[in-house]
Amino acid sequence: MKLPSRTALRAALGATFSVLTVGAAVLTASPASAAATLGASAAQSGRYFGTAVAAAKLSDSTYTSILDREFNMVTPENEMKMDATEPAQGQFSYGNADRIVDHALSHGMRVRGHNLAWHQQQPGWMQGMEGAPLRQALLNHVTQVATHYRGKIYAWDVVNEAFADDGSGGRRDSNLQRTGNDWIEAAFRAARAADPDAKLCYNDYNIEDWSAAKTQGVYRMVQDFRSRGVPIDCVGFQSHFGNGGPPGSFRTTLAGFAALGVDVQLTELDIAQAPPAAYAATTTACLNVPRCTGITTWGIRDSDSWRSGENPLLFDGGGNKKAAYTSVLDALNAAPPVTTTPSTPTTTPTTTTTTPTPTTTTTPTTTTTAPPPGGCSATVSLNAWNGGFVATVRVTAGSADLAAWTVTLTVPAGAQVTNAWNVQHSGDSWSNVSYNGHVPAGQYTEFGFQASGSGTPVVTGCA
Ligand code: XIL
Repeated sequence: MKLPSRTALRAALGATFSVLTVGAAVLTASPASAAATLGASAAQSGRYFGTAVAAAKLSDSTYTSILDREFNMVTPENEMKMDATEPAQGQFSYGNADRIVDHALSHGMRVRGHNLAWHQQQPGWMQGMEGAPLRQALLNHVTQVATHYRGKIYAWDVVNEAFADDGSGGRRDSNLQRTGNDWIEAAFRAARAADPDAKLCYNDYNIEDWSAAKTQGVYRMVQDFRSRGVPIDCVGFQSHFGNGGPPGSFRTTLAGFAALGVDVQLTELDIAQAPPAAYAATTTACLNVPRCTGITTWGIRDSDSWRSGENPLLFDGGGNKKAAYTSVLDALNAAPPVTTTPSTPTTTPTTTTTTPTPTTTTTPTTTTTAPPPGGCSATVSLNAWNGGFVATVRVTAGSADLAAWTVTLTVPAGAQVTNAWNVQHSGDSWSNVSYNGHVPAGQYTEFGFQASGSGTPVVTGCA
């Protein structure tokens, strides 16, 4: 089982480029007052705090009392992986995963599904497959499992760990990769069709350092997916750190990905020896990025950890809060209140990387309308290149649920919309489709479109 080696990724430097990052404008505000649990303190800024859960431990009352008290998001640690859910081809087994999902939902927690496709923890029958039969088996697996959990999953790690550690920035070799480079987007499309309301994430490790070739490789894939309308909503940063904690560029990385119009999440956080300062720095990196929507630690107590020899979690083996717990809680309680005004450009990271100069320049910009009470508001994030752009439009409900919505948005003169997703439009009128009309108060949904030409789309209304 690999453990990350960040140093291994700090390769020699090659080409240089810079990315301008503009903080996304958003949303509903809640005053930050000190809350007493991880989940409640994260919720003050609209985020979640989660943990990996093992079904076998749900009968341990120390374990479940911490789980139910502190966390509001759950990731099954192994129970949704391919070997667990399809142990024999075409025969699906959901008992352990269902137990975790039922526990979470009945205790007011949400669920991150982990995962639909991975080169590891494949069932034996799949390990020996290749080519078209494997592609078909993969897509059937994605469809069956995502359908079984439809409506119950906040976000799916659709594909896990598909990029190489060799400094190339390319894909990892695997039986799945050998079915064709489009296997990842095929999996995402199948997942979207099976569960249209789940956010669909790509999840990986050692992509926290902006200058790492692997980070840039994943970035280019997400950028490509967004530009072609492949359904991807989020990127998970596993965040298995050594005792030095996150790389200094972690916030830059999170902001850079977020500027592509995806949410970012810390999905499997653990830090060797759990230094409080390293945990605080990690938490703060997320809190400083509006689209960093939550943090999950990979287990509850040190004794529950897959890295138990390194005591990397927030609770000791007896279930007591460690110093790192307090540093995370304090950081969450100090989160900047979320504003309703567009932020000005906050960072202009200039980084050197081992990767080739990208052929496109990403210059996200954001415009917004003021959110009326009740009603809705809309913000636009733009990723433009020479000759075209992708716009991501976030529709946020005001103080009441929306049953349907229409955004009035004018595409700049000379720009031509080439495709749009999660929306139906006619002229300047952009309305919900069947599955995204309902937006709970204070929550949001997103649609997007690609256009040729240049300029900035302008939002003049949301109703
Ligand atoms: C780990 C589990 O924690 C272990 O119990 C299991 O033996 C192996 O997998 N990256 C991932 C997780 O995406 O699924 C892994 O979980 C840890 C690394």
